[in-house]
Amino acid sequence: MLVLGIETSCDDTGVALYDSREGLLAHRLYSQLVHVEYGGIVPELASRDHIRKLLPLIDTVIKAAEIEPENIDGIAYTAGPGLAGALLVGASLARSLAWAWGIPALGVHHMEGHLLSPMLELDRPEFPFLALLVSGGHTLLADVRRLGEYGILGQSVDDAVGEAFDKTAKLLGLGYPGGPAIAQLAETGVADRFTFPRPMLDRPGLDFSFSGLKTAVATEVAAQADDVQTRADIARAFQEAAVDTLVRKCKRALEQTGHKQLVIAGGVSANQLLRARLADMVGALGARTYFPRQEFCTDNGAMIAYAGTLRMMAGQKDEGTGFAAHPRWSLEALPSVV
Ligand code: KG4
Ligand code: ZN
Repeated sequence: MLVLGIETSCDDTGVALYDSREGLLAHRLYSQLVHVEYGGIVPELASRDHIRKLLPLIDTVIKAAEIEPENIDGIAYTAGPGLAGALLVGASLARSLAWAWGIPALGVHHMEGHLLSPMLELDRPEFPFLALLVSGGHTLLADVRRLGEYGILGQSVDDAVGEAFDKTAKLLGLGYPGGPAIAQLAETGVADRFTFPRPMLDRPGLDFSFSGLKTAVATEVAAQADDVQTRADIARAFQEAAVDTLVRKCKRALEQTGHKQLVIAGGVSANQLLRARLADMVGALGARTYFPRQEFCTDNGAMIAYAGTLRMMAGQKDEGTGFAAHPRWSLEALPSVV
């Protein structure tokens, strides 16, 4: 089955073609630049840029895969969670194209796309496994029993970890997105000059909280961040606290569930310190880690094409002619695939 995948939940327009026998045929990503001067995403500008870029990108991917539109068997698009306007651009185009081509369409959950993204690699996990999903909007630990059967073991009670990276970057005068900028600045930081809190580690359970960490950084910045070295030292201490918190919660979750495979996905899984520390911890427990390749950590069309292929092969498709976007949508609400 050949599936066109469309991702427009936030500020990246992603398109890919996935074939159930041949694997990923082609994929392209357009990362919007219009938000840089505002220091964060402006939803209306995101929607307008998706409108401008989506069709040309679909064209490019079809040409790159050297297929004809009539070879496509289905269209998968991100139906949520995300920005309502941005989601509606992808949903309306996907449903219109599918209608015109006489093929099924299916709305896919963005976080399920992230969760399955390590399965695009040759060395891939097998169900069941534990998943840590870390993005700009989510921080959650999921017990992945099978495709579509996800139990949320813990999640952030306030800011997502990616959001904490972005807000801290802003406090330090760095650009958007903050994650890569913090990681880069932290390289020149001195270890242990600052120590920031690791929220909720002293309590049982698997929930996270990152707003206190951001506040601690804000206090330090206000007190003394006028030189470059101090800012680098703060970036280093922030990254250390965020990574340490995630690693310790993953250890707790692995011990509680007995899972021997840990999948880490979402934008923050691109963080090198997080990848290294998780691999060490998981190795010491005799378990294994699985990450997406670097370019599929952040938003992309390949993960949506892949998740859509698995579900459409099981016969799932959108019914009727109406369509909806789900800006808020729990992973636990998804139908399972037997
Ligand atoms: O998955 P994603 O592309 O979009 C959402 O679904 O939210 O994640 C974006 C988030 C941003 O907060 C960004 O700062 C963070 O991922 N990020 C990183 C790194 N690369 C991206 N955070 C830490 N280290 C990185 N290298
Ligand atoms: Zn994402």
